[in-house]
Amino acid sequence: MAASRKFPAAAAAMVLSVLAFAPAYGLDNGLARTPPMGWNSWNSFHCDVSAKLVDETADAMVTSGMKAAGYVYVNIDDCWLLKKRGANGELVPDPGKFPQGIAAVAAYVHRKGLKLGIYESAGTTTCAGYPGSIGHEKQDAAQFARWGIDYLKYDNCGDYRGETYLQRYTAMRDALTQSGRPIVYSLCEWGNQAPWKWAQSVGNLWRTTQDITPRWQTDQPDNEYPRGILDIADQQAALTAASHPGAWNDPDMLEVGNGYLTDDESRAHFSLWALLNAPLIAGNDLRTMSKEVRDILTNREVIAVDQDWGGRQGYRVRDDGGTQVWVKPMSDRSVAVVLLNRGRGPVNIGATPQEIGLGRADSYTVRDLWRHTDSVSHGRMEETVATHAVAMFRVWAGSNDARKSPN
Ligand code: GLA
Repeated sequence: MAASRKFPAAAAAMVLSVLAFAPAYGLDNGLARTPPMGWNSWNSFHCDVSAKLVDETADAMVTSGMKAAGYVYVNIDDCWLLKKRGANGELVPDPGKFPQGIAAVAAYVHRKGLKLGIYESAGTTTCAGYPGSIGHEKQDAAQFARWGIDYLKYDNCGDYRGETYLQRYTAMRDALTQSGRPIVYSLCEWGNQAPWKWAQSVGNLWRTTQDITPRWQTDQPDNEYPRGILDIADQQAALTAASHPGAWNDPDMLEVGNGYLTDDESRAHFSLWALLNAPLIAGNDLRTMSKEVRDILTNREVIAVDQDWGGRQGYRVRDDGGTQVWVKPMSDRSVAVVLLNRGRGPVNIGATPQEIGLGRADSYTVRDLWRHTDSVSHGRMEETVATHAVAMFRVWAGSNDARKSPN
């Protein structure tokens, strides 16, 4: 049938992309063996950060069940600091926003069993115009370590002083190593210099795109700022072979529950990011989120797909324009499948076992990861998918006995 005839082309594309991007080695800091999970202030609060917001978000991460579902990093983005360094060249937290400094916030977050992240830039300024870390890498990394920081997002604004991307991002990697504290290193150069080709030995994750925006799709041309959910998903299809444990493609922080996204669109966003082994860094206000949004972010069966490494990040096996099929091999030999309806109006989407990479079997066990129901299929799976939505399944070749519960 038409669907299975397309599989050899997809397989050929896969081989080519493996050859093009196969990383020789990764950053050996032992961190981010699974994609990092947490929260970041930027998408909802921009420069409006404070100790109060961070503490309350840590509280909400626990009470909402997000911590129990695997979220651990509470990350402060831009604007946490004063516009001038101190007398000894040190970064100074804004006393109006962080009256007790950053170490006190780290202690609070750590007491909750969570970890604290912070933000800086590999140039002379951050993107909001605060002092950047170029030329101060050792001093800043040592300070982050003293404060108890566990995660650094390292942006790409300001002047580069004639240094290359590799020099600037490697300088901070080495400074973090010398600080002696395990700190997840998150590169944020927006995909400018194809970090999926060089960043595996530099960082634990690297942004692959310009900034995300809480819209399903923008009408802007390729890689123009900002990017909607589908724009970013489309960019990820070619990058799948670049990631592995400790080194992840980062299609940007989640917009689940934000802006113009409907709950169906948020579910589709979360499903695709999980399939891509993306960092799951929530970007909404955890203190006020609806039950629907909380249920999306804490869907453990979808999170289990993100956190599983079956040897390869998920990828697209079929693109019919308005509809697509994305799959990800899981370590127990099941396959996670996303049936994506990009268009207006409900549509029937199907996929054969061969197309999703499963061998021949008399029957297939199909787990619906959003409805939390099981069914048995004897061949092609089909589902009517609502407008701007996905269906997400995990499929095992064989009977129910073959199914290993993801949780
Ligand atoms: C850049 C980054 C964003 C955010 C802002 C902060 O645009 O890509 O994720 O950190 O800077 O100014």
